[in-house]
Amino acid sequence: MGTLEEIKARVNIVDLIGRYVVLKPAGKNYKARCPFHPDDTPSLMVSPEKGLWHCFGCGAGGDAVGFLMRIERLSFPEAVAKLAQELGIELRSSGDGKSRLFQVNAEALRFFQQALRSAAGEKARAYLLSRGIGEPLWERWGIGYAPPSWDGLLRALSRFGVQTLLDLGLVVMGERGPYDRFRDRLVFPIRDEQGRVVAFAGRAFEGEPKYLNTPNTPLFTKGTVLYGLDLAKEAIRRKGRAVVVEGYTDVISLHAVGIEETVASMGTSLTEDQARLLARYTEDVVIAYDRDAAGEASSLRGMFVLYGAGLRVRVASFPPGEDPDSFARQAGGKAVEEVFEQAQPFPEFFVAALSARHDLTSAEGKEALLREAQTFWPEIKSPVLRLTIVTGFSHLLGVPPEEVQEALRGVARPVSRAQEEGGPSLTPEDLVVKFLVEGKVPDSVVPELVGEERRFNEVYREVVRRWAECWAQGEKPAPAALVAGLSPQGAARLSRLLLLDLKVAQESQALEEALVRFLFLPRLTERMNQVQLALKEAERRGDPEAVRHLSLEFQRLCRERIELLRRS
Ligand code: CTP
Ligand code: MN
Repeated sequence: MGTLEEIKARVNIVDLIGRYVVLKPAGKNYKARCPFHPDDTPSLMVSPEKGLWHCFGCGAGGDAVGFLMRIERLSFPEAVAKLAQELGIELRSSGDGKSRLFQVNAEALRFFQQALRSAAGEKARAYLLSRGIGEPLWERWGIGYAPPSWDGLLRALSRFGVQTLLDLGLVVMGERGPYDRFRDRLVFPIRDEQGRVVAFAGRAFEGEPKYLNTPNTPLFTKGTVLYGLDLAKEAIRRKGRAVVVEGYTDVISLHAVGIEETVASMGTSLTEDQARLLARYTEDVVIAYDRDAAGEASSLRGMFVLYGAGLRVRVASFPPGEDPDSFARQAGGKAVEEVFEQAQPFPEFFVAALSARHDLTSAEGKEALLREAQTFWPEIKSPVLRLTIVTGFSHLLGVPPEEVQEALRGVARPVSRAQEEGGPSLTPEDLVVKFLVEGKVPDSVVPELVGEERRFNEVYREVVRRWAECWAQGEKPAPAALVAGLSPQGAARLSRLLLLDLKVAQESQALEEALVRFLFLPRLTERMNQVQLALKEAERRGDPEAVRHLSLEFQRLCRERIELLRRS
């Protein structure tokens, strides 16, 4: 057994948490006052059976390692080391053990790089070239290819021992033995500030999940690394600013057009660790996300984190439909610079991004805008930022600043406990995720759900992604295993769902209903809107053949919709 698995199997989550708070039995579980927020009634729940904890007051939660990280303010490797020591488990990865692990990752990288240049890598080479990523870039970014076989890497690196490969997440343990995690994927090494390979990201050519990433390992904790920082740090210092994008290809393309101060947050919202990392090099940050992604709640929260770390944040907006990668390749570095010059200071961008989602000509629209802005209030800590934002909304809405401030502060409430106790009110999305990770969604529906991960909110997207990674390998992961690889937010959200005991009499009925409301109905509505637009267009053109065809299609969709509504 590996060190980490051994720790997880042996640690007693009730004993561990019981050292910090007084636990009282509550059915199969235990309850306590939560140590992470002022809590006069016990809102912290611990499940020995699932190996998870969750606070229904402040929303924190996760596994034993996560609890220790949080309460003792430790990094993932530090928390693991502490538990190992207490349990008397020998940690192989002490100081020089780590350098050995780095060496193994370097060897893995060499294997992937060679495979890219081999006969098997033909398809991968063609793909890279078709995206304008030529050979010099393969070198700079260490891009490689994981061949389709189940044990190519396993055999090539067998001299290091299977356990080490498992520890590094290069290999996965299945029912019939270990096999390669990355198969038939492009491989991007993720390097730390010093250029050491800490993890890998594998991009599929088609199919889901699009990216498969190394889970947390002794060398890698999710949310603590910025992709490209090793190659960007000099330019960040020199130019006095950093550019933050979402994805690997965005970094590669921006560097290629001379914007070498670019790093990526790798798809999730920015963390405090990442903000601190940036703040060591510069005070100025330009955010360059896909246009739509920039305004998403999760991106905005990440920007608050940067701002809160004392950075000056501006947000660049590319033309609709373009991301930094596509825009840089088409328009070149000079055009990108011009976009950056127009970048909006974060407080203004925040006000504009929220406003764009609401109809400010109607009273309902204004109310809805304020309600959404309220959810960000706890994040707006600086008085200067508060003032700027309040003034912005005041101008837009024609409401005095004091009243805007009043409204924003009004409902900065934590998750309502009363609601949880009087029977949890779960959205269809909550239910779908709960059923999915509990393995209750039929295999035939799973690919559809996973394929539409964009429908899930940021936190659940991460959960679903991770679940899909395991599922794609033919496993249905245990709850604690699933929580382990998540960001703190993801872990908290998932532990809540898993610890909620649903009193749903007819589970299959509830699942069906949730699927209809979360996936089938919205998808159908989107399709109907498309067809309706096309129909108008065809009428305008005077194309009777298309009109007939589209009308039939529309009628068919209407019938489908009625059928769906009847079923739920
Ligand atoms: N991401 C991830 N897992 C996924 C999808 C996305 O970790 N299943 C992260 C990756 O870091 C990715 C970033 O989110 O780079 C942005 O996602 P996306 O825009 O979908 O990918 P791109 O990097 O733009 O990839 P490509 O240009 O090849 O489409
Ligand atoms: Mn992208």
